[in-house]
Amino acid sequence: MRLGVCWYPEQEPEAGWAADVAAMADTGLELVRIGEFAWSAYEPATERWDWGWLDRALELLGGAGLSVVLGTPTATPPVWLLRERPELLSVGPDGRRRAYGSRRHTCPTVAAGRQEARRVTTALARRYGGHPAVVAWQVDNEPGNHDSARCWCDACAAAFPAWLAARYGTVEALNAAWGTAFWSQTYPSFHAVALPVPAMTDHNPALELAHRRFATAQVSAGLAEQRAVLTGASPGRDVFTNLYLGDLYVDAREVARPTGLAAFDNYPHGTSGPEETAYILDLARGLSGRDGRVWIAEQQPGPVNWTPQNPPVPPGQVRAWGWQAAMHGVEALLLFRWRAARFGQEIEHAGLLRHDGTPARGLAEARALAADLVTLAPLLAGGPRAEVALLHAYDDAWLIEIDPHRRGLTHRDLVLPAHTAARRLGFEVDVVAPTEDLTGYAYVLAPGLCLATPERLAALESALDTGATVILGPRSLVRDADGAAPTEPVPAGLSARLGARVAEGLSNSAWPQGADPVTLAEDRVPAGPWIDVFEPGPDAEVLARYGGGTYLDGAPAAVRRGGLVAVGCSSAEGWLAVLARVTGRDPLPPGAEHAVRGADRVVLDHRALRLTVHGPAASQTQGVFPA
Ligand code: GAL
Ligand code: ZN
Repeated sequence: MRLGVCWYPEQEPEAGWAADVAAMADTGLELVRIGEFAWSAYEPATERWDWGWLDRALELLGGAGLSVVLGTPTATPPVWLLRERPELLSVGPDGRRRAYGSRRHTCPTVAAGRQEARRVTTALARRYGGHPAVVAWQVDNEPGNHDSARCWCDACAAAFPAWLAARYGTVEALNAAWGTAFWSQTYPSFHAVALPVPAMTDHNPALELAHRRFATAQVSAGLAEQRAVLTGASPGRDVFTNLYLGDLYVDAREVARPTGLAAFDNYPHGTSGPEETAYILDLARGLSGRDGRVWIAEQQPGPVNWTPQNPPVPPGQVRAWGWQAAMHGVEALLLFRWRAARFGQEIEHAGLLRHDGTPARGLAEARALAADLVTLAPLLAGGPRAEVALLHAYDDAWLIEIDPHRRGLTHRDLVLPAHTAARRLGFEVDVVAPTEDLTGYAYVLAPGLCLATPERLAALESALDTGATVILGPRSLVRDADGAAPTEPVPAGLSARLGARVAEGLSNSAWPQGADPVTLAEDRVPAGPWIDVFEPGPDAEVLARYGGGTYLDGAPAAVRRGGLVAVGCSSAEGWLAVLARVTGRDPLPPGAEHAVRGADRVVLDHRALRLTVHGPAASQTQGVFPA
């Protein structure tokens, strides 16, 4: 894994650049990302380009042996442009145009906006496409962030029916797929389908789902246009887009897959803990496909400024986050940011340097991490070789977001416990699309895999037929491609093979208000916020039952027939109990994460912030970090 940093020379006095760049190289950094918000510095007024500062910055970086990731600045179209062309600004669901003054304030659809994005990208690509220091391009910055993918402007309102027509062919087909007979919603034409604005109560979930798919399609098309410019003018360079994987504003897989290199921004304090970060790392690695490449375009360097509490970051933590990333197969990790910002919305966000330019703790940790990586590289090379696949798609996450049935319940609440349990049993896990080639995985986990499409069912059947154990989780195979409930028993398409059906899918919640009452009886662990209850036929084996003193006592919580298992609970403890039974493995101690590489094992203790190497490689490395 190569280390780098994000640097904003346009925000710093030029007199300090040379010392900054020398310090970056001295720290052991190799990559520097610049420019992703610098539109007004690139182009202070229409077609008045100011490349001098960037020429000099690139020369300094290249001169120090640093490689540059250059950003296209389309996340921050400048004030002068928006005053000239206000139609570029997006419109909120309230019908009001978004203000400039922040970022991600433009519409992903409007033709003039796309044209401006191509124009600035073309200018950058022409000038720097062949620059020897430039090794990669970042297109845009966190598309979708701040709920910016959905826009309610006239251009979007006009493009939506056209997108629907391409998807459904006839309005009758759309009406049938969306079940618009419900509440008299039948549409006379595609043009009658309006973007979902606030209405008396909820919109049809099928409309909401389509709106999210449409928004991702608009964003992806714009990114592809920029990418085409860059790959033409800057051959041989990686081109990626950094994503934030803590939200659902775009389908990150849709964005990353065409680039062949996924990139994401890793802020562990935006998660519930190291298990969720581990999950996100595996999710990111699979975004561009099985055995996909992944970079961390931004990594938390100390306290951030945007979580509810912004807790402190203890000594050794930044280094340990780096080890964790390396264990999950990340190719490059760029710390965000070199120096804490003295101006603007992120003054309270840590950098590797403090506001006064002296080192923050993160800098020493970056240096230590760079040295660790030299030792660990041969051991971790090639990344994880997973025995477990966990199926994941944004469609399912969106459906649960649209209709969670239990307030606050998310798709991640259903998926993360399965991942955490598999990791606790020492498995490497690939998080992949449900239609990915699943050959060779011993176990395929499918929690929260709501949509039962023919392609997904074919992939699951073929995994089963080739000897994998498929383990469905709660709320799987419960809807069709447009979110409608199936007419057959759930899990739709596989209940016959399972020899069981889901009798009820339930929020595990007491009435009147109280704690989640239902547990896994024998294992004496909570069952989690969501529970599917099974009704097994004669040849399905019951692997676990519910308890806790409600009418569900004794009801089947997990069933198996042949290689097909279904788990109804949604707690990590419940998954651990059932998975241990199915795989015959014993759990590893909690609080530690294991990476298996042949006969070697790397163990990261998230509490002690210590990494140890076990196996033959222990003698070739120093074995324990920090030594
Ligand atoms: C990311 C973003 C960066 C910066 C960072 C702060 O979401 O891409 O520009 O805002 O968060 O943690
Ligand atoms: Zn729009």
